[in-house]
Amino acid sequence: MKKILIVIGTRPEAIKMAPVYLELKEAEDLQPYILSTGQHIELLDEALSTFGLKADFRLDIMKEAQTLAYLTSALAEGLGRLYSEIAPDTVLVHGDTTTTLMGALMAFYMRIPVMHVEAGLRSDNRFEPFPEEINRRLVDQMADVLFPPTPMAKARIYEEKPEVVDIFTTGNTVVDALMWVKENKLEAIPLHKELKPKEYILLTAHRRENWGEPLRNIYKAVKHIVRETGLKVVYPVHPNPRVKNIAYDELGNVDGVILTEPMDYMSFLKHMSEARIVLSDSGGVQEEAPSFGVPVVLLRRVTERPEGVRTGHIVLAGTDTDTIVEKTLQMLNKKLPAYNPFGDGLAARRIADYIRYFLKLSTEKPDEWVISYE
Ligand code: UD1
Ligand code: UDP
Repeated sequence: MKKILIVIGTRPEAIKMAPVYLELKEAEDLQPYILSTGQHIELLDEALSTFGLKADFRLDIMKEAQTLAYLTSALAEGLGRLYSEIAPDTVLVHGDTTTTLMGALMAFYMRIPVMHVEAGLRSDNRFEPFPEEINRRLVDQMADVLFPPTPMAKARIYEEKPEVVDIFTTGNTVVDALMWVKENKLEAIPLHKELKPKEYILLTAHRRENWGEPLRNIYKAVKHIVRETGLKVVYPVHPNPRVKNIAYDELGNVDGVILTEPMDYMSFLKHMSEARIVLSDSGGVQEEAPSFGVPVVLLRRVTERPEGVRTGHIVLAGTDTDTIVEKTLQMLNKKLPAYNPFGDGLAARRIADYIRYFLKLSTEKPDEWVISYE
């Protein structure tokens, strides 16, 4: 049995790696384990529990308003120790968080093969998203196998002429995750009692580069949109105090704006599926909304997910108040193509098949995910 260690630390990593774990578990010659670094606690545990999963190994490092320096050093020490104890054959990391970076770096230092799920995303701006853009570039340098979600991400990797030759396009595993949730009775989940289908906007905003003034500009735009359209806004607020404090300060007592705790994944997808439009600076949300035909106004100036911009599912608005209002009004009645440009729900299967091929447990090279955006 080959030991595959899935290293996750935050909510999106849990959601996007849960389907991979479930698929690896099906293989008789692979033994997957989940290591939760503790970068997030409640958010990650909640996301895993949606899929009936729990971490097999844990670090306990989260602190209130933790700094990047603290996180990085705590992860280096903790992961180095756990990798020695567990002795995995392969480490799987996802995306671009501090957990991703340190999960890959510690494995590289210990000469454990690293595979990077959701490789090849690039915004071409080192500070947006910060520090994620640099994290993913560095991890793509260290990994032995790269799993870009889309052909565009794969092409970006080739442009950089990497040393690694194992590059395999999979589709984004978030589409697998949301299809799993849909099949598990999304209809039965209630909407917030003050909301009616298609009469509200779903908002998420938490990115580090938006802390402070940009968040305040976003919130100003939200107030304006509520007044102008009569739509409500529901905003599950990220627990980070640097976000939460400003959110309650600016939007806590505004008619038509509903602030909630972070929603569990099923409930969040339910609120996305019935929303008229989504305003967000999130990564994963950009990839999910197309599955429900809901437009995304992206609260960022650049995106590493150009596929959705090309198909019209996503429009870039940045964080200027007037631009957000203008783009939101434009997107309100937008008809969208009825497919998701980020994945087809079979990404985890492809990843599991490729891992077996890479580890020489199978001689059959699986087929990559193919999609055209023309
Ligand atoms: C991190 C990731 C970001 C990802 C986001 C997903 C990095 C650099 N950033 O940012 O890429 O989009 O997660 O949400 O890795 N907190 C809790 N409970 C939780 C989780 C967080 O209270 O379950 C609070 C803590 O006070 C913590 C703070 O949020 O210190 C920030 O968490 P951190 O992981 O450092 O940054 P995020 O902004 O969540
Ligand atoms: N999400 C959730 N509950 C919430 C908000 C988001 O389950 O209240 C999910 C969402 O569906 C997506 C993921 O969390 O899959 C996005 O996480 P986040 O925005 O924290 O990180 P990012 O994707 O920006 O890295």
